[in-house]
Amino acid sequence: MITINSVSELRETVSKFRNEGKTIGLVPTMGALHEGHLSLVNRCRKENDVVVVSVFVNPTQFNNKEDLRTYPRTEEADRALLESAGCDIAFMPTVEEIYPEPDTRVFALGRVAEVMEGAMRPGHFNGVAQIVSKLFMFVEPDRAYFGEKDFQQIAVIRSMVKSEGFKLEIVPCPIVREADGLAKSSRNVRLTPEMRKVAPNIARILNESKEYAKSHTVGETEKYVVDAINSYDGMEIEYYQIVDGISLEHLTSWDETGYVVGCVTVYCGDVRLIDNITYFNN
Ligand code: PAF
Repeated sequence: MITINSVSELRETVSKFRNEGKTIGLVPTMGALHEGHLSLVNRCRKENDVVVVSVFVNPTQFNNKEDLRTYPRTEEADRALLESAGCDIAFMPTVEEIYPEPDTRVFALGRVAEVMEGAMRPGHFNGVAQIVSKLFMFVEPDRAYFGEKDFQQIAVIRSMVKSEGFKLEIVPCPIVREADGLAKSSRNVRLTPEMRKVAPNIARILNESKEYAKSHTVGETEKYVVDAINSYDGMEIEYYQIVDGISLEHLTSWDETGYVVGCVTVYCGDVRLIDNITYFNN
């Protein structure tokens, strides 16, 4: 594995591989790598000749300075994990390398970027589009891999790919969970020991709501999830929305679409966690 810090070296190295006829897969990350990220790297390894993983805590997608400051950074451990996962190129740039000047681009991301996280975190998805589009321009991958924990992010990236005319395949990968059900997240390390014990109830309640949903309306099911999660000390729901899995529009009845997903954001103490569940995808 080679570690590259500069954009020019990245472009040069990748284009050599491309000229040899090799396919390139990209896994964009913000580091603090865990098994969720490694599942993306493994999938990328299977489907491409060359695996590029970017590790960059992108400041433009943080609308909360404290969240950016406290975001875990574990560069050396990340490098070791990537090496053993079969990554070929670890791209680990500085902020100045990626943003030599402020990125003022505003992307036309459509409705999928306005609902849920888009409403709660103004500017977040534009920041994601800024960094992901730059990575796509530098690497020109054949495929890029994203985890379904960030369900809405995948829809937003697909929208950006369409509006910017990128030619690549976006590959969504299933959520990886701890043995107790908690979705793996770089933010989990910031949970207090008490909140770490409570947090798996999010996934448990989402799962149970699938059964509940069979005999209740969308609104009743949302209320069931909100009340159940909020009943735990220290957990507070920011939103729970049952949406169309493609448009992300909030549903009022189960028969509006064939693909139904519930998306949740929960404060566990001061750590903001997200998760989701598919009710059905026909
Ligand atoms: O999902 C993430 O970790 C980030 O949003 C991404 C896609 C790496 C962009 O910074």
